[in-house]
Amino acid sequence: MASLLLKNGRVVTADSDAVCDVLVEGETIVAVGRNLPVQADHIIDATGKIVVPGGIDPHVHLDMPFMGTFSSDTHETGTRAALHGGTTTVIDFVLQKQGHSLREALTEWQGRATGTAVGDYSFHMAVTDFNPATKAEIKDMVAEGITSFKTFMAYKGALMIDDAQMLGLMQEVRQHGGLVTAHATNGDMIDTLIAQHRAQGKLTPRYHYLSQPEVTEAEASGRFADIANYTDVNAYIVHLTCEGALNQVRRATERNQRVFVETCIQYLLLDASLYDNEEEGGKWVMSPPLREKKDQATLWAGINQGLVQVVGTDHCPFMWAQKLAGKDDFSKIPNGHPAIEHRMELLFSEGVSKGRISLQKFVEVTSTNAAKIFGMFPRKGTISIGADADLVIFDPTATHTISAATHHMNVDYSAYEGWELTGKIDTVLLRGQVAVDGGETKVGRGYGQFIKRGKTAF
Ligand code: URP
Ligand code: ZN
Ligand code: ZN
Repeated sequence: MASLLLKNGRVVTADSDAVCDVLVEGETIVAVGRNLPVQADHIIDATGKIVVPGGIDPHVHLDMPFMGTFSSDTHETGTRAALHGGTTTVIDFVLQKQGHSLREALTEWQGRATGTAVGDYSFHMAVTDFNPATKAEIKDMVAEGITSFKTFMAYKGALMIDDAQMLGLMQEVRQHGGLVTAHATNGDMIDTLIAQHRAQGKLTPRYHYLSQPEVTEAEASGRFADIANYTDVNAYIVHLTCEGALNQVRRATERNQRVFVETCIQYLLLDASLYDNEEEGGKWVMSPPLREKKDQATLWAGINQGLVQVVGTDHCPFMWAQKLAGKDDFSKIPNGHPAIEHRMELLFSEGVSKGRISLQKFVEVTSTNAAKIFGMFPRKGTISIGADADLVIFDPTATHTISAATHHMNVDYSAYEGWELTGKIDTVLLRGQVAVDGGETKVGRGYGQFIKRGKTAF
């Protein structure tokens, strides 16, 4: 079995920080310690570098049918781009089609990802039609290692479920020890506001933002937390963006309920002023929309307060030509934004380098917490004996500039074009293999494995 010794790096996990060596045999970490007295087939000198666990992005949409088109990154291109940015595992969403079974949807997604993914991946199951037949399939999904069930409280007629379905799903998932996640926005309010704006001829990207005011997210987040509290199920809000919604989670803690919260990198760094750009505002049309500066402050604070456990991306890229479907009507712009590649470097530069979060907090929110919440810990999310050797070697002082001309995502613009970052990824290992080194991909199509997940252990 091939061995690899990573020497003299500053090895940082959620609960340790020390200059030491990491020994890998095959796919697994077999020793961690100072000056390990061993030989290895391959040695990497990580002196002066930071070594963190491979990133986990639990919110990506690869090759997803949505709003009359497909997101433009496949499981191959999306996971390759993720590896370049230090994300070694992603969790993608399988979408049940209304009127069809969970199994049919899973088979379709397996057909896209199996043998094509370059990085490791798992699936959430999005339940868009909860009925007696779907109910019977929940235990089968848990047995497949799909232990998280996504709900949409918006996108009526396509993905949204109502409160009766939410209640039934939570009761069933609770029986099987799973987790229910939610896109928590009030779909009926949003659809009404969209219709009102369109009727008034208000069609520019800014009206996407004005059709999803903070109250639509705060209301649904509170409702989701309340039903989860009643059913006593593990609950997780995806892509939370704003103060009003986080206050609902804070309120839930007052009755000793824990609702896990994910925000996404864009909500920490970008704000709604970008929608003033009538020509290019569609680049940032996503749901929920970008918010205000005061919401960014709330989210950074939420991370440090432990109310926000995960920073994901909601990576859902569309080519500019796809976005142009909505050039005359914001409601036709495919919702989504590309970020799978830059989540970790953006968060390191804007968060750690600028002193907003500690390095250990960075590890928690980019990797460890997702591994624990989604049942992959300690195989993923840490650097310890027995864990998969998913390792990211970061040069903390190197600088670089983001551009669509150099990124690996299959999308022809970058939402962060020209941003200069401090901290750059040198080398990425996935299950003991050098996957990316010096900007070059070293593993191929099909190297990525499906990761069966267990129960939340947070
Ligand atoms: O705009 C978004 N977020 N697109 C992807 C689907 C979703 O709501 O997560
Ligand atoms: Zn969503
Ligand atoms: Zn999403």
